[in-house]
Amino acid sequence: MSYLSGFGNEFATEAVSGALPRGQNSPQRVPYGLYAEQLSGSAFTAPRKENKRSWLYRLRPSAEHAAFQPHPQGLLRSGPFDEAPASPNRLRWSPPELPSAPTDFVDGLVTFAGNGDAAVGSGLGIHMYVANRSMVDRVFYDADGELLIVPQAGKLRLFTELGVLEIAPGEIGVVPRGVRFRAELPDGKAIGYVCENYGALFRLPELGPIGSNGLANARDFLTPVAAFEDVDRPTEVVQKFLGRLWSTKLDHSPLDVVAWHGNLAPYKYDLRLFNTIGTVSFDHPDPSIFTVLTSPSEVPGTANCDFVIFPPRWMVAENTFRPPWFHRNVMSEFMGLVHGIYDAKEGGGFAPGGASLHNCMSAHGPDKTSYQRAVEVELGPHKIEDTLAFMFESRWVIRPTRFAMESPALQADYDACWSAFEKAKLPGTTGK
Ligand SMILES: [Fe+2]
Repeated sequence: MSYLSGFGNEFATEAVSGALPRGQNSPQRVPYGLYAEQLSGSAFTAPRKENKRSWLYRLRPSAEHAAFQPHPQGLLRSGPFDEAPASPNRLRWSPPELPSAPTDFVDGLVTFAGNGDAAVGSGLGIHMYVANRSMVDRVFYDADGELLIVPQAGKLRLFTELGVLEIAPGEIGVVPRGVRFRAELPDGKAIGYVCENYGALFRLPELGPIGSNGLANARDFLTPVAAFEDVDRPTEVVQKFLGRLWSTKLDHSPLDVVAWHGNLAPYKYDLRLFNTIGTVSFDHPDPSIFTVLTSPSEVPGTANCDFVIFPPRWMVAENTFRPPWFHRNVMSEFMGLVHGIYDAKEGGGFAPGGASLHNCMSAHGPDKTSYQRAVEVELGPHKIEDTLAFMFESRWVIRPTRFAMESPALQADYDACWSAFEKAKLPGTTGK
């Protein structure tokens, strides 16, 4: 796998020497008779810093296809997410099980929750995928949003129109809206999370007083070099459009982009490279200090979606309750766990591959076990190791699907992890 380094740069790459037109986007005759196509990820007139587009040079035009027909929907859902009442309760799910039937990445997508509406370009869908076979003679694209993929078990090899992206647990991959790809499973199985972002494209957060370095550094983001296949075999194209799946059949693979240039492309990032910032005195910053990528909304500092991680890190704060504190948040929080133990849930129940949802103003925080340990421990420098939790945090209430609310994986006893806290003892009282 070969990659280009940088976040949102103007890249130029060709799989065949001389395929990329020099000095212009759409010459009268493209080298080798390739077809030029612009893929727009923003409005033509978006300001320069928001403007995302790439020019693709391909064996055949994408436009050459028969009408799309309705395709079985499976458990994939989309905004407005009104099929089940939004629950004010804290919710937690156990990890999904691998299917027994042959299931590829697209068939294995299951929607847990979401908000907003793809039709108005705001909000997000949260899915999990559970797959046991590679996609064969089949590609997928999402017209509703970009896909942020967080593998939990097993690698994904994404053969996209713009090149090959391989992501393993501990890494993330982002596939732009509309980019077709085939998901292959080098390990024979794959489980993970997907944030489907209907809103403004993910970008690096501002750093403010942190300065010009830190958190996720732009040079660690990797975009694939051009790669294509010249395959004249029937290929199914499945697309998600306004929540519904549609498909059509081509007589060739559409992964036939020989060269491309531009700033709209898939990318990957190794979360182990995240430069974690934290306190060196007392207390700890809000979890926003761990933001990897953000999709802003029209309200400054109030995200359509923040992608936040809780990676290994040193804890050195003095006289401090070090785990996440109790809190109630106007933002809504969906969490997942790639591996290890999350430091607010040392009492168990939040397992790798599992998920939790703490919606707007729901009270949550450390479970009883984590709380007790944190207030009793002798504080010294301590490293939290072998852990990777993450959060999709949104300004809008995250509404679970009917599947999520009726799934046997939904834990009936989640509230119990916050039970049996002793009442504080004021002077002159028994605390009873
Ligand atoms: Fe929280």
